[in-house]
Amino acid sequence: LSRTIIRMSCALVLVDANEILGLKLPNIDPILNANTVCLTLPGLTRRQLEVCMRNPDVTASAIQGIQIAIHECQHQFRGHRWNCSSLETRNKIPYDSVVFKRGFRESAFAYAIAAAGVVHAVANACSMGKLKACGCDEKRRGDEEAFRIKLHRLQLEAIHRGKGMVHGVMEHFPADLPGPQDSWEWGGCSPDVEFGEKFSRDFLDARETYKDIHARMRLHNNRVGRQVVLDNMRRKCKCHGTSGSCQLKTCWQVTPEFRVVGSILKERFHIATLIKAHNRNTGQLDHSHHNNHHHHHHHQNNHHTHRRRPSVNELVYFEKSPDFCERDLGSDSAGTQGRICNKTSPGMDNCESLCCGRGHNILQQTRSERCNCKFHWCCYVVCEECRITEWVSVCK
Ligand SMILES: *[C@@H]1O[C@H](CO)[C@@H](O)[C@H](O)[C@H]1NC(C)=O
Ligand SMILES: *[C@@H]1O[C@H](CO)[C@@H](O)[C@H](O)[C@H]1NC(C)=O
Repeated sequence: LSRTIIRMSCALVLVDANEILGLKLPNIDPILNANTVCLTLPGLTRRQLEVCMRNPDVTASAIQGIQIAIHECQHQFRGHRWNCSSLETRNKIPYDSVVFKRGFRESAFAYAIAAAGVVHAVANACSMGKLKACGCDEKRRGDEEAFRIKLHRLQLEAIHRGKGMVHGVMEHFPADLPGPQDSWEWGGCSPDVEFGEKFSRDFLDARETYKDIHARMRLHNNRVGRQVVLDNMRRKCKCHGTSGSCQLKTCWQVTPEFRVVGSILKERFHIATLIKAHNRNTGQLDHSHHNNHHHHHHHQNNHHTHRRRPSVNELVYFEKSPDFCERDLGSDSAGTQGRICNKTSPGMDNCESLCCGRGHNILQQTRSERCNCKFHWCCYVVCEECRITEWVSVCK
């Protein structure tokens, strides 16, 4: 009977209208200028403040992207001992959180997903026409006038074909026109991902001033996160032509669902690479795989094989994570006491694993959770509040 939901009710709750930036302007497009965005936002470095002053509207979008990333992080880590809840910060960017100051695998994930969130949010805001500095991707923009002429010509041809003649002359048309289905051209508005990528670099990488291992870990993982968005852009297409035919096809790019980005980065989290902290200041990162036992390798001997830059696909970290079992704020561990676990789950939320062997109690619990959160431009989140009463297993 455990986890039988006895009562579950939902209510639409506007979670602190504009909680992302303390802008109290719900329902209308808020004015995004240096005063409303940059000067009210705590936690910006000097260089980030400069970037913000130049592009306050883009920065607002970037902050929203970071918030979306944190929600996704919480989803991906919901059953883990460290569950990303510590990154939830109100009205400020989360980079002062402990996990961002450390070199854990979790830190690597957090950097990557936040950087991906910025690319994603900025690129989409560009294509929605919300930002002054960018719009549709010029490289993927069709020639609308040429397209209209072509479509018109096809329609005329179809009409004549219907009569069996073109320009008054009988013409033979093969039953199957040679594969026009495979050809397409750009049309519509593709998000400007290059702009999003560049802004993510300007804004996030600008935090780095010292080329120590931590800075390089951050820069590397930021890049991994951004690349996941770039590599997973998809094409969407629409058919044009007479009566359902697909004589002309126009396509535009769309960003991947952010859930997809989160899942890919989560896989990379599991296979992240431990880099050595004593590397030299060469811009390269030494690394050794966390799961190999070949510690007889000597640094000098491995000069050629191990002294390489980790690929742009690997997350890297340099500090072994704690077990996150007990409360230790110095390592961003809230401990798992009171966490809900699942007795039958084979995953991380299994009671044995989540409760670190301390055991669990079964009790009836009523709690409120934010659920079905939606991010609105700009810059607030609307969530439903689900009140759940159920029997749960709870870690001792
Ligand atoms: C995440 O962990 C915190 C701290 O242990 C806890 O309060 C919170 O309920 C957890 N969130 C979820 C979704 O399990
Ligand atoms: C617990 O885990 C099992 C196995 O993965 C799953 O089928 C079940 O739905 C989970 N229960 C809850 C309440 O999440």
